[in-house]
Order: sequence, then C-alpha cells, then structure tokens
Amino acid sequence: MEIVILPDAAEVGRVAASVIADVVARKPDGVIGLATGSSPLAIYEELSRRADAGELNFSRTRGFALDEYVGLPFDHPESYHAVIDRTVTRPLGLDPALVSVPDGLADDIPAACAAYEAAIAAAGGIDVQILGIGANGHIGFNEPTSSLSSRTRIKTLTPKTRADNARFFDSAEAVPTHCVTQGLGTILDAKRLVLVAQGSGKAEAVAAAVEGPLSASCPASVLQLHEHATVIVDEAAASRLH
Ligand code: F6R
Repeated sequence: MEIVILPDAAEVGRVAASVIADVVARKPDGVIGLATGSSPLAIYEELSRRADAGELNFSRTRGFALDEYVGLPFDHPESYHAVIDRTVTRPLGLDPALVSVPDGLADDIPAACAAYEAAIAAAGGIDVQILGIGANGHIGFNEPTSSLSSRTRIKTLTPKTRADNARFFDSAEAVPTHCVTQGLGTILDAKRLVLVAQGSGKAEAVAAAVEGPLSASCPASVLQLHEHATVIVDEAAASRLH
C-alpha cells in the first residue's frame, strides 16, 4: 500500500485527481468506481476543471457508483443517483447511459445486486475505484463486521453512519436505515484503489486501516490485501499514523 501525506485537503483532491486522470488518459473507455460523500468532491471538481479545459474527455468512460440508499426515490436530492448525476456525470461530461448506480428501489434487491455485479464484470471490471472512509472505518457502506469477501448486497447502516450523514438531510430520522453497497470483495476486484481522507475526524480510521490488523472491525483494512492501493490523506487525517 502506498501512503501519500499532503499538507491540505485541496492538495489531496489535486493529487488523487491526477491518478484518475492518468487512467482515463491511457484508457478513455475505462471504468471508474465512484464514491459519494464529501471526501471525493475535490477530485471531481479538479477532473471537471480538466475536462472543461479540454485536457481530458470522459465521454466514453464508464462509471459504477459504490452504493445507494434503500427506499429513496432517484430524484430525491440526496439519493446517490441524484448526487452522482449532480457532482460527477454532468460536471465531468460522462454519458449518463454509461453511469450505473445500485438500485435501492428494486422489488427484488438481491437480484438487482447480482445484476450490478454482472454489469461490472461485463464492463471488464473497474480500472480505478475512488474511495472515502467512514469515521468507523467503513468503505462503501461496508460497516464494521462486514465480511471481507462480501459482494454487492443490502446492508443496515449503523447509528454512527446515519448520524454522520444526517448533515445531508433535514433530520437524523430522515436518513435511510438501509443501503445497497458494493461488497469488500467487489472493491478488492478493482485493478487500482485510491482512498482519500481529510481532517482529524478520519485520523483513527486511517490509522486502523493502514497500520492496524486486517480485520472486519475496520473494513478499510482490506486495502492491505490489494496490490495497487494508494491512500492519499492530509496531515490532519494522517495525525494518528506512526
Ligand atoms: C460513499 C461511501 C462512503 C463514504 C464515507 C465517507 O459512497 O462509500 O464510504 O466515502 O462515508 O463519507 P464522507 O466523505 O462524506 O466523509
């Protein structure tokens, strides 16, 4: 695992964006795994800037989101369908037909999860997966105790994650209780992983992921198993590393 510690959050976004840009420049029809939440926003802003400047073209790039809430209509502003459209697909100029988000409204969620896995495989797998990390060490919505070999499935969100995400909703109660997420095994199948974290609130989780034991107690510790994982953090998020 490669660890890159940078002075501030803006620099984290720029350096991580360069990793993604290199992949897309080499393989314009490649596949990007897309995280939502606050952590990757600076990456998307920088990639959008480069696309606007004509340095990159995402029109043939495929995207697969990591996760989605169960039960939120796709046009709800906080559904990840809407968030990915607003923060990634439109600003980067991806073709909406080439962007997939797990279906949290499916009548048969296990079948929809299996179809999602099949769609990733049919696309040739994910070339580069962008990841944030929860304060409890989750990646995607693989909460602590998730199986290290899990595939895309429905999960219950922990009270901690619901409280952390309440900032996006009108109230804590409005945060959905369940989600559909790529599994840890799905994430490990990506050819390259780029995890970004900013701020002291992520310092414990980053230290557990990078220096702690490989453990379902810290799902992000599975990055230790990956041959090509890069963790890009600012000094505050790195503050608990030895
Ligand atoms: C979102 C996701 C989550 C977030 C994590 C950190 O698609 O997969 O693992 O990356 O909850 O969220 P932020 O970045 O908002 O602190």
